Amino acid sequence: MKSSTSATAIFLFSLVGPAISATYPISDTVIGSAFYSAFNFQAIGDPTHGRVNYVNQATAQSQNLTFASSDSFILRADFKTTLSASGPGRNSVRIRSNKVYTTHVAVFNIRHMPQGCGTWPAVWETNESNWPNGGEIDILEGVNDQGPNAATLHTGSGCTMPSSRAQTGTSGQLDCNAAVNGNTGCGVRLNSAQSYGPTFNNNGGGWYVVERNNNFIKVWFWARNDGSVPSDVKNGASSVNTDAWRTPDAFFPNTNCNIAQHFNQHNIIINLTLCGDWAGSVYPGSSGCPSTCVDYVNRNPSGFVNAFFDIASLRVYS
Ligand SMILES: *[C@@H]1O[C@H](CO)[C@@H](O)[C@H](O)[C@H]1NC(C)=O
Ligand SMILES: *[C@@H]1O[C@H](CO)[C@@H](O)[C@H](O)[C@H]1NC(C)=O
Ligand SMILES: *[C@@H]1O[C@H](CO)[C@@H](O)[C@H](O)[C@H]1NC(C)=O
Repeated sequence: MKSSTSATAIFLFSLVGPAISATYPISDTVIGSAFYSAFNFQAIGDPTHGRVNYVNQATAQSQNLTFASSDSFILRADFKTTLSASGPGRNSVRIRSNKVYTTHVAVFNIRHMPQGCGTWPAVWETNESNWPNGGEIDILEGVNDQGPNAATLHTGSGCTMPSSRAQTGTSGQLDCNAAVNGNTGCGVRLNSAQSYGPTFNNNGGGWYVVERNNNFIKVWFWARNDGSVPSDVKNGASSVNTDAWRTPDAFFPNTNCNIAQHFNQHNIIINLTLCGDWAGSVYPGSSGCPSTCVDYVNRNPSGFVNAFFDIASLRVYS
């Protein structure tokens, strides 16, 4: 009896031990019109004071600001209307997942991201009702076509990152506390020029992946033509094994940050604002961007023809 029990235990350990370390089964596949059921539209005032007017789903669909096909979901800002300086901002879209996640891997297969002067797109995760104490993970975010991408955490106080980490990107501020230095957060700038904006788009985009568990948060980017994209990422497999992948672009370990404490259940949010606290404040220094940010947005609808996401798929593993 005794020997057979321990043999069973050893067998179970060897079977289950490696699997729980890094293999995640799929929980959500979101492609095309599935975005309409997996996400809700947030027709809210932009908390970051952008020159946008976030619209509801009916308006987005009737104005073709969102568009779904069998293998694509488009989300964009209006590119047809000249705005009155005294009226509302340019119509745009902000969507938030209905589901919330803690430990998970999210794989975003993105063909095109919003580009153009004044644009400030973001793919991120947070708990809006408990910000910043519930944490924020910015996966893909930037302004005015200025790459490369930075992956950034924002938290309450008491979450810092070590200066030396196993990542390919370059660390910025190490304190994630949103109250420090005007909500700069702890960011890691990616090395790949193809990770953001026009360069990302000219290359057909690629895959952004976030892995979050209680030990760490990791972000990877693989450009479309990268020969080393893991097959489970590339093929939308039914499970992913993150331990088999290369060193991440950004690595946020729990060394001096209790991740379970600083990060609540998160929604996934995709938003596109224009100007506002970040894109607007650095606009004068952005090469090739004329006039002032708000004036440019008001008068130049054609400047926003390429201000769209084309998302091939979102797969969440948890
Ligand atoms: C709506 O947008 C899609 C995607 O950009 C485009 O293919 C389609 O032609 C547009 N429809 C109209 C009526 O403009
Ligand atoms: C989206 O909204 C959140 C605040 O709710 C903000 O932190 C983020 O920067 C916004 N980004 C864009 C592109 O609107
Ligand atoms: C925020 O996180 C808390 C704790 O995990 C959770 O109870 C709450 O539902 C979350 N809020 C939202 C809007 O999901």
